Amino acid sequence: MRIDILTTFTEMFPPVLGASILGRAAQKGILEFNLCDIRQYSENKHHNTDDYPFGGGAGMVMLAQPIYSCLDAVDPEHKARRILLSPRGRTLSPEVARELAKEEHLLFLCGHYEGIDERVSCAMDEELSIGDYVLTGGELAAMVAIDCIARFIPGVLGSSESAETESFSDGLLEYPQYTRPREFEGLTVPEPLLNGNHAHIVDWQMSESLYITLRRRPEMAQAYLKGRKFTRHEQKVVNAVLERIREEDEKAKRDSEPAEETT
Ligand code: ADE
Repeated sequence: MRIDILTTFTEMFPPVLGASILGRAAQKGILEFNLCDIRQYSENKHHNTDDYPFGGGAGMVMLAQPIYSCLDAVDPEHKARRILLSPRGRTLSPEVARELAKEEHLLFLCGHYEGIDERVSCAMDEELSIGDYVLTGGELAAMVAIDCIARFIPGVLGSSESAETESFSDGLLEYPQYTRPREFEGLTVPEPLLNGNHAHIVDWQMSESLYITLRRRPEMAQAYLKGRKFTRHEQKVVNAVLERIREEDEKAKRDSEPAEETT
């Protein structure tokens, strides 16, 4: 996949795109990053990329001209799916990432200052947000989106790191993981992970995933429980987790009630 990145802060990207899994994917030729400095396309004599807003107000607005010239140079035939990073956009999710991972050519435009001249949006295909908060610029958002999308591109993750991990964990939070030593400062590894019985390990992982999701993201756990057909065995595991939650909640309620007078 080719990924063009239009930004006024090119220096922010190489440390992230060149490291770890993204760096390895670029070396393998699965990802090709093309950093484009918007400032180089400014026809302004000071190479400005922003100006004061019409109508007044705080901050500066990014100029349309350098962005349009940069787009013309980098993607003259509009072959890329052009994405503007913006808190106004569709929110990034695993579904959005999976969809974008199918593209051959993505282009990310990173906004800065107080905003971008609205006429730039005519040249873009969509806006993408990484969450309901405002960053100082689109660069970090672009890196988050690229990292998230890349995980769904075949070959980016090794086979043991698959983004589509065990089927049961699709839609649930991750179960806890441990590595050596078996005991660290008095803290031990849960027994099912040590006894080598693969079926028990899978049951334990599913239980823990479901338990953690019910506790931390109940709406996500409910969607998972509604949307799946379980085998008889899986249903037993699910029921045991629901029972564990019920018992814990009852105990917590009992413990929080004032003790009964015994006269
Ligand atoms: N630019 C500023 N905030 C952003 C966000 N939350 N998502 C995407 N781009 C942004």
